[in-house]
Amino acid sequence: MDFFTDAYIRRIHLRHDSIPSFKQYPFSIPSIRLLDELSFHPHVTYIVGENGMGKSTLLEAIAISLGFNPEGGSLNFRFSTYDSFSDLSDYLRVIKGVNKPRDGFFLRAESFYNVASNIEQLDSEPGSSRRVIDSYGGVSLHNQSHGEAFFSTFMNRFEGNGIYILDEPEAALSPLRQLSMLSRIHELINQHSQFIIATHSPLLMSYPSSKIVELTNDGLKESTLEETGHYKIMKQFFDDKDRLIHHLLND
Ligand SMILES: Nc1ncnc2c1ncn2[C@@H]1O[C@H](COP(=O)(O)OP(=O)(O)O)[C@@H](O)[C@H]1O
Ligand SMILES: [Mg+2]
Repeated sequence: MDFFTDAYIRRIHLRHDSIPSFKQYPFSIPSIRLLDELSFHPHVTYIVGENGMGKSTLLEAIAISLGFNPEGGSLNFRFSTYDSFSDLSDYLRVIKGVNKPRDGFFLRAESFYNVASNIEQLDSEPGSSRRVIDSYGGVSLHNQSHGEAFFSTFMNRFEGNGIYILDEPEAALSPLRQLSMLSRIHELINQHSQFIIATHSPLLMSYPSSKIVELTNDGLKESTLEETGHYKIMKQFFDDKDRLIHHLLND
């Protein structure tokens, strides 16, 4: 195993001086307003935190500043049916590593459907020799369940030497598939890949060579898995489910 030690993206810095107003989205979000610098782990950086804390906004801006389509897909995808992205990326200074990634994917759960449609569209155009869908496992992503479609994309389309930005990839995956995803992440990391993953899943958060950054109303905070709110709640549930349920239903 030769873990690579440099990252494709080393850190980002928010250029506070040029922000016109902190009253409007996305700068009104506390974690964004308080963002100064965020450095990434060369292997996996997890972005965690409660709903509405700004994880998707931050991931999207990172992805756009690396050249991804705001709607998601690989670095070559240029379709857009979507223009509600924020201009946060205009205010980020991105510090990249020496090496350039040869592969990449930005997954947003809510627009994965459009990525699937775009692949069908590309494959229906005459003249292309190799079907795009073949690198995604060969079966139309529309003819698979959400979880299967994402899983086959992840298993087949991600090639290594890449930067992968995933927004709540666990949404469609069973716990078993989430564990399989960890093994695949490990393979891809051994093939010089870097991941940035927003997640609520303690299973998915458990890749050892990683950094966990929690977005809170008081700013960004580095955490261990055991310190995250997500882990603590699951632990409470598994340690004493009856007590937790009693507490929830009787107070
Ligand atoms: N396009 C938008 N315009 C205005 N507000 C938005 C937009 N997208 C998200 N928000 C708001 O910004 C906050 C953070 O959203 P988001 O980044 O999606 O959070 P998370 O992914 O952590 O759940 C939320 O309060 C949300 O309502
Ligand atoms: Mg989100």
